[in-house]
Amino acid sequence: MATLDKRSPNQQILPLTAKTNSNDHLEIGGCDVVELLQQYGSPLYILDEVSLRGACQQYRDAFKTHYQGESQVIYASKAWNCLAICAIVASEGLGIDVVSGGELFTAIKAGVNPELLYLHGNNKSESELEYAIACGCIIIIDNWLELKTASNLAESLGKCPRIMLRITPGIECHTHEYIQTGHLDSKFGFDPTEVESVFAFLSNQTALNCIGVHAHIGSQIFELQPHQDLGAVMIKWFKIAGKYGLNLTELNIGGGLGISYTESDDPPSITEWVKTVSNSVMAACEAEGLPLPKLISEPGRSLIGTACVTAYTIGGGKTVPQGRTYVTIDGGMSDNPRPITYQSQYLAMVANHMSAEADQVITIAGKHCESGDILIKDIKLPKTTAGDILVVPATGAYNYSMASNYNRIPKLAAVLVDSGEANLILKRETYEDLIRQDILPHKLR
Ligand code: LLP
Repeated sequence: MATLDKRSPNQQILPLTAKTNSNDHLEIGGCDVVELLQQYGSPLYILDEVSLRGACQQYRDAFKTHYQGESQVIYASKAWNCLAICAIVASEGLGIDVVSGGELFTAIKAGVNPELLYLHGNNKSESELEYAIACGCIIIIDNWLELKTASNLAESLGKCPRIMLRITPGIECHTHEYIQTGHLDSKFGFDPTEVESVFAFLSNQTALNCIGVHAHIGSQIFELQPHQDLGAVMIKWFKIAGKYGLNLTELNIGGGLGISYTESDDPPSITEWVKTVSNSVMAACEAEGLPLPKLISEPGRSLIGTACVTAYTIGGGKTVPQGRTYVTIDGGMSDNPRPITYQSQYLAMVANHMSAEADQVITIAGKHCESGDILIKDIKLPKTTAGDILVVPATGAYNYSMASNYNRIPKLAAVLVDSGEANLILKRETYEDLIRQDILPHKLR
């Protein structure tokens, strides 16, 4: 394992180990990106183990330094859930936030201790709840129906699962409206006006063991103030729980720290974020005269976002007279749906000519049958020709996890790189994989 780097990975656009090698090629984790594509095919997700482990360690160490109580970092695996990633973060001592039976199944199959798994979701099915109760993971209850279903299931299974309550804190933050979750008009969690009646319900039953409360205010957040405010709001809920004889011990402040996708992005470091939430919770506890709870945080993007790049091969293109020059790549919105969904901005580089001068403005188009399938508009890059390798950084979070098979394009392979060694962690889909679930009824044969 390569040595650790003190830089906060979420503030770097490229993985921590990225450099230009003597062939003028981009190298990540000691592996030449051009050679990786020759070996594993194109396009390819390339995940840097040092960046991912480094981010896990920075979160863990910062809580140890800045929070005087117990703490636990859990990885929001919706950012990228697969066996290898679950295994890596678990080996760093992190728990895992899962949001469906499928994510739970993957984490269990990766060997993660169920005691450190937290099941989220605003409409968990009965079978998902039953699965979680049977595994012994913690369930974050989102609404009344779920509270009652979980209580009935626990009783009939003769178990007493640990639960937390998700409550909407009424805190707004500046991020894309699709990824804001803390404002009152949100589909997630109990409204704060319901807190007393939920605690009253819990105090009258024995099937569920309520250990704490949860809130998540949104994602890709650059300000510290909303998280600073969150501590005080949540500690008030602890106080109210006490009135109902409930002894809450865990406080989960969610995730949300942003990352740098381009040079104009300026997120706080992991340490600054941890220090802010820690101070806010400690100050609120002091003000309310309460003991420090176990402080849980659940970052996703800031753990894995900048640890990964996507490498593509450049194909054809066109120059519109008096218009744009389009350069096309062999992927697009099916492996990175974020530009078309959130108008997200990305950088790019030509991985086989790293020091060539950027002397043209081009638009990088994907290969899907959709005009909006544009990865990057108007970026300054060196002259490219077909066969050149284009690398788009900061594609670790919510890219593979939101990838689709639009136009029946197989999903990409992913390799984990470290110290000059590459290991496949996701196989490239084949055409056979694409029709695996198809059925041709007899009458059509
Ligand atoms: N906890 C909860 C309850 C969440 O809903 C989320 C993200 C997280 C933690 C992790 O947040 P993070 O640290 O990654 O910001 N697909 C969107 C992002 C959706 C975020 C969903 N929830 C995107 O590509 O930007």
